[in-house]
Amino acid sequence: MEKPQLGFGVSVIFRFVLVFSLVLSASSGDAEVMNNLRKMIRAPPNLGWSDPDFCEWQNIKCNSDKRVTSINIAKSNLAGSLPENLVNLSELKALQCFDNKLTGPFPKLAPSVKTLTIYNNGFSSIPSDFFEGMSMLEEVRIGANPFSAWRIPDSLKDCTSLRVLEAQNCSIIGSIPDIFGPDNPLPALVNLTLSYNLLEGGFPASFAGTGLEFLLLNDQKSTNKLNGTLGVLQKMKSLKQIWVHGNQFTGPIPDFSKHDQLFDVNLRDNQLTGVVPSSLTSLKSLRTVKLSNNRLQGSPPVFPPGVQVDMTGLNQFCTNMPGQPCSALVNAMLSVAEPLGYPLKFAESWKGNDPCSGSWTGIVCSNKNISVINFQRMGLSGTISPSFSSLTSVVKLLLADNNLGGTIPRELTSMPNLVELDVSNNNLYGKVPTFRQGVSVEYTGNKDIGKDRPSSPSGLVAGGKGLGVGPIVGIVVAIVVLLGVGAAAFIMFRRKRKDSSFTQKPNGKTEFSRDSDATRITVSGGGGPYAANDSYVGDASNMVITIQVLREVTNNFSEQNILGKGGFGSVYKGELHDGTKIAVKRMESGMVGEKWLNEFMAEIAVLTKVRHRHLVALLGYCLDGNERLLVYEYMPQGTLNDHLFNWKVKGFKPLEWKRRLSIALDVARGVEYLHNLAQQIFIHRDLKPSNILLGDDMHAKVADFGLVRLVPEGNASFETRIAGTFGYLAPEYATTGRVTTKVDVFSFGVVLMEMISGRKALDNSQSEENVHLVSWFRRVLINKDIQNAIDPTIVLDEETYSSICVVAELAGHCCTREPHNRPDMSHAVNVLLPLVEVWKPTEAEREDDNYGFDPDLSLPQALERWQAMDGRSNVYTNTASLSYPTSEDSINTNTEISTPPRPPGLADSLSSRDGR
Ligand SMILES: *[C@@H]1O[C@H](CO)[C@@H](O)[C@H](O)[C@H]1NC(C)=O
Ligand SMILES: *[C@@H]1O[C@H](CO)[C@@H](O)[C@H](O)[C@H]1NC(C)=O
Ligand SMILES: *[C@@H]1O[C@H](CO)[C@@H](O)[C@H](O)[C@H]1NC(C)=O
Ligand SMILES: *[C@@H]1O[C@H](CO)[C@@H](O)[C@H](O)[C@H]1NC(C)=O
Ligand SMILES: *[C@@H]1O[C@H](CO)[C@@H](O)[C@H](O)[C@H]1NC(C)=O
Repeated sequence: MEKPQLGFGVSVIFRFVLVFSLVLSASSGDAEVMNNLRKMIRAPPNLGWSDPDFCEWQNIKCNSDKRVTSINIAKSNLAGSLPENLVNLSELKALQCFDNKLTGPFPKLAPSVKTLTIYNNGFSSIPSDFFEGMSMLEEVRIGANPFSAWRIPDSLKDCTSLRVLEAQNCSIIGSIPDIFGPDNPLPALVNLTLSYNLLEGGFPASFAGTGLEFLLLNDQKSTNKLNGTLGVLQKMKSLKQIWVHGNQFTGPIPDFSKHDQLFDVNLRDNQLTGVVPSSLTSLKSLRTVKLSNNRLQGSPPVFPPGVQVDMTGLNQFCTNMPGQPCSALVNAMLSVAEPLGYPLKFAESWKGNDPCSGSWTGIVCSNKNISVINFQRMGLSGTISPSFSSLTSVVKLLLADNNLGGTIPRELTSMPNLVELDVSNNNLYGKVPTFRQGVSVEYTGNKDIGKDRPSSPSGLVAGGKGLGVGPIVGIVVAIVVLLGVGAAAFIMFRRKRKDSSFTQKPNGKTEFSRDSDATRITVSGGGGPYAANDSYVGDASNMVITIQVLREVTNNFSEQNILGKGGFGSVYKGELHDGTKIAVKRMESGMVGEKWLNEFMAEIAVLTKVRHRHLVALLGYCLDGNERLLVYEYMPQGTLNDHLFNWKVKGFKPLEWKRRLSIALDVARGVEYLHNLAQQIFIHRDLKPSNILLGDDMHAKVADFGLVRLVPEGNASFETRIAGTFGYLAPEYATTGRVTTKVDVFSFGVVLMEMISGRKALDNSQSEENVHLVSWFRRVLINKDIQNAIDPTIVLDEETYSSICVVAELAGHCCTREPHNRPDMSHAVNVLLPLVEVWKPTEAEREDDNYGFDPDLSLPQALERWQAMDGRSNVYTNTASLSYPTSEDSINTNTEISTPPRPPGLADSLSSRDGR
């Protein structure tokens, strides 16, 4: 029996000793930690930490077990650091050491801690696992410490008791983690302050599930700042204070109508767009609101008296007067932008109270009415507003290549002037509503179009009665639309042939004929060159285009956009808001001064008067400081020069003879118009293949009117400094400088010779006597050796050969030495026309070419006029000063006579010339 007793006794003693030693070790542990702490913070005497029992120290609290529960050493001018073993104070509930100069890493703390207030110190870091398992933590105030960059760890979600997290100005990087809300609740969190950090990215979606009252995220110091929309705030109805100023938030101010405790809203210095909602202006609890320096739109809001308002800084309000309504057009545009989330791109350019002021992205106006809405490829999401239908003047509505969802609103069918609706390549669903005949509706690339609902991964299909019917409806609609378009095209085509005066019809259908016929030009002072209601060129009805727009459309005159270069400067490719491609000729900066300005204006004056389907059209111009720019239509196939001589390098096929013929006819018609059919007589003076541009349909337009001479009315002779390009110069012009329309006829003859032979006007690779194409070709004609002169790439058959022979004769005729023996351009047209007619295109070809071979150009009229003028002398004296070489190869080949050709040298020569 001894054994057990002994065992019992030993056991009791052992246990006692064990327990005692544990208690001792724990309390002595706190003692060690506290002594350590006292040492490391270099506790000054006035801290009152001298008693041997740390539980007696000032501002230290212990529990009955002599365990430290609270340390408060705030505002004590302490400069040391904290010991690593602070974590061993396992009963610690509160640590306050704010407003000191403590440095070094902030240590990990025991999970017992509820309150931590350490802001405004010099702590160099916070452990990355600091929040792990800290389920008791309620209030954390750690801001204004120079921590090394750190991220808010996902483990913050362990802090299920957290009510306050204040961590402003303490080097937090990365984004706000998505750890709030129902799945990872921080249900107690009411204060979140992360101002003055380096956060980026948007609000986490899980914010929606929080009961946050104070949200202070202002003034992020990162480059990107916080971004995205404020949308999620709409669901955070407990919010009292919102400080998100000094970030990059975009999109509209959300609906605050349910936020009945919200009193302080600071949204300054973001990129917010859209109309300030009445849910904010009429919010009863509101005391302070700051809106300055955003892109807010619409009418400046009016807040009730008693609300402190800051909105003096920049915004995009339509007026400066709070409460003054915007124009109907502005309101219409804003309601269109609303379901698109008021894109920033729009808000940035939509300034003032007039959408037709010229700056508004996506809008083209004609006569102060919006004619084209081009929102293509703008990355838009959202839905198509039925409010588009209130823009009754709109002819083209282009929304293609975005991410638009929803359906095509039925309301759009009521738009009275609509001719084209393009919604292709979006995510639209639903039936395509039936538009009136003549409206072209493009909706390919919307995979759910025709279906009742958008397809989604979850079983929508099950209940979808539209399944099966949808595609059929789609096809039927497509066929109906196609028939409609076809009919419209046919009607337009018919009308064009019949009605060469192009009286504008109220339905605006003729607005889309791209080619301008001589007969519809209004050459009047005020209205510019465009028929008053010609809304295809509506964007240019005011011919002035701002430098900003041109910069934008040419990618800031990027090298990549350069189409060609010359002494005048460079030509850039660009695309206007309505999708029109343009070529922008930017004069070299040397061309400043009044004289150049006069030249420039004179060129514009000429260009606005000569408009023809076979002359490259001037769409606008820009004069801004030293910038002089001309905007022309863009000709995608480049120059005839490239197609004749550089086709291998450029990867083209050699031109077939019938193409050459039709190009020759186009050129002849363009020049004929210049000479005879424009209301005044113009002479091109620099006709050559590099000034003949080709469109996608391979139809040609004559370009480069830098040397065009307006023959002054009533003048009999016309002399000028010689300009032009060797090889194409008529002999009398080269020797005497006298200019007549026959100068152009000569050059045209040279171009014909080039097209026949595939040889350049001057070809230094040839033997001495054959360098000059005209001399060589004359010998060919005399020797009747045409067959051997034909470009070897031309496929010869009998018909082609006889056609070439006719053109060769014409070429020789045009290049006759004596100007009076040369024919007029009208004659050239008459010779070429029947040759082209032989190869009239098939019906299929005609589809995309409903004007090229259309002999509607009232030729008898033209002929009459030509005959009437034939007797008249074509020799005039120059008074206009509009002369500088402008084309690429007249500069680069050194074959030009004009001396000195380049500015500023030319400016000098002009001044002497102008001294006349
Ligand atoms: C903290 O306590 C643990 C035991 O709980 C011990 O292992 C460790 O050495 C102590 N650390 C310090 C720094 O006192
Ligand atoms: C942020 O903290 C630094 C020191 O850590 C201080 O110099 C700066 O003024 C603080 N900035 C703000 C906005 O509080
Ligand atoms: C939350 O923050 C606000 C403003 O910073 C303050 O007035 C309020 O007392 C804080 N609430 C708590 C519980 O800390
Ligand atoms: C927000 O900024 C980040 C970079 O910090 C960027 O990747 C993201 O695309 C931006 N989001 C929006 C909506 O602008
Ligand atoms: C603008 O369009 C409306 C409706 O189409 C029309 O009534 C009005 O006359 C137009 N205004 C001008 C200046 O053309």
